[in-house]
Amino acid sequence: MYKLFFNLVFKRLDPEKAHHLAFFWIRLASSIPGLRNVVAAVLAPRDPKLRTKALGLDLPGPFGLAAGFDKNAVGIDGLTMLGFDYVEIGTVTAQAQPGNPTPRLFRLIEDRALINRMGFNNEGSAAVAARLAARPKGSKAVVGVNIGKTKVVPEAEAVGDYVTSTERLARHADYFVVNVSSPNTPGLRNLQAVDQLRPLLSAVRETLDANTTGHIPLLVKIAPDLADADVDAVADLALELQLDGIIATNTTIGREGLRSDAAKVEAVGAGGLSGAPLKSRANEVLERLYARTEGRITLVAVGGIETAEDAWQRILAGASLVQGYSAFIYEGPFWCRRVHKGLSALLAASPYATLGDAVGAAARR
Ligand SMILES: Cc1cc2nc3c(=O)[nH]c(=O)nc-3n(C[C@H](O)[C@H](O)[C@H](O)COP(=O)(O)O)c2cc1C
Repeated sequence: MYKLFFNLVFKRLDPEKAHHLAFFWIRLASSIPGLRNVVAAVLAPRDPKLRTKALGLDLPGPFGLAAGFDKNAVGIDGLTMLGFDYVEIGTVTAQAQPGNPTPRLFRLIEDRALINRMGFNNEGSAAVAARLAARPKGSKAVVGVNIGKTKVVPEAEAVGDYVTSTERLARHADYFVVNVSSPNTPGLRNLQAVDQLRPLLSAVRETLDANTTGHIPLLVKIAPDLADADVDAVADLALELQLDGIIATNTTIGREGLRSDAAKVEAVGAGGLSGAPLKSRANEVLERLYARTEGRITLVAVGGIETAEDAWQRILAGASLVQGYSAFIYEGPFWCRRVHKGLSALLAASPYATLGDAVGAAARR
């Protein structure tokens, strides 16, 4: 049904317009309590065996929506209604910014992939913090907050920019992510170098502690394009700073192995590639991180996860949590339900009692 709808409606629309339309419907459905409950009952039936403890949080399952879909925290409850076990909002920057000129989001349908150069279009951390503060207190949705650098702020002043967003958003996050891996903000990925990353992560950690009473888990999100030695260096730094986790990975600037017409890909131009073609490198980075950190830090896998089998493979490779974005566009509203059902079946057929027992099992064999 969704595939037909995608081909008849979404495929004909500009991808960013289709995103806004779909997100509007999700929010509309979740604003009508009776409808929200019916949709959630169909799409988000939670097998208790999938309950996941990670980052000190108790989640209904391991499967979250990756950053970038809900940049301004406008639809957390609607996305939870669709079955996501947690929603990572953002990337949010200290100053509001429009992002890059449109068009800036492209589909490579033959590759089940997207290319985006959105450029952190968002309302800024003050507006997003106000919105999160206004959320109903009883909401059970688990919210990750992902922050990045304002484009006009020079690299040398990046720490202050991240700290400003942290001060505003700390109280509203179940976990916090420092994003240094988007390819669409000039210079941002230089912050992944450990001598830049150490003061940045230390400052964000201190600011989180100064602005909250409990411990807010802090993670760093890295690019798939890092050289292996740099992946190891980030892993070592994360252990040194006692970070809570690493999210691997963001989109890639690579274009290898695509089925789409090369001229079409070339015409799209710059941007981060996500979806199926990212699967193998994202998995490699995860495996490397797990080998390096030996299970001492929580790993969150993202990049090309489309099916329950993909999610299961990442869990076996060392991920405690998994996320996705691009496959949501191609799979539609039944995506979470399918992934959860598949994961339940894979867990039941495995020797493990819980998903937690399966984490890293492939690396331990
Ligand atoms: C349109 C779009 C916008 C994105 N925006 C962000 C962002 O603002 N911050 C971020 O950390 N990642 C962002 N991402 C990257 C995703 O969170 C994810 O890391 C990446 O897409 C790989 O996962 P996937 O293959 O499941 O899409 C974006 C991805 C897409 C497709």
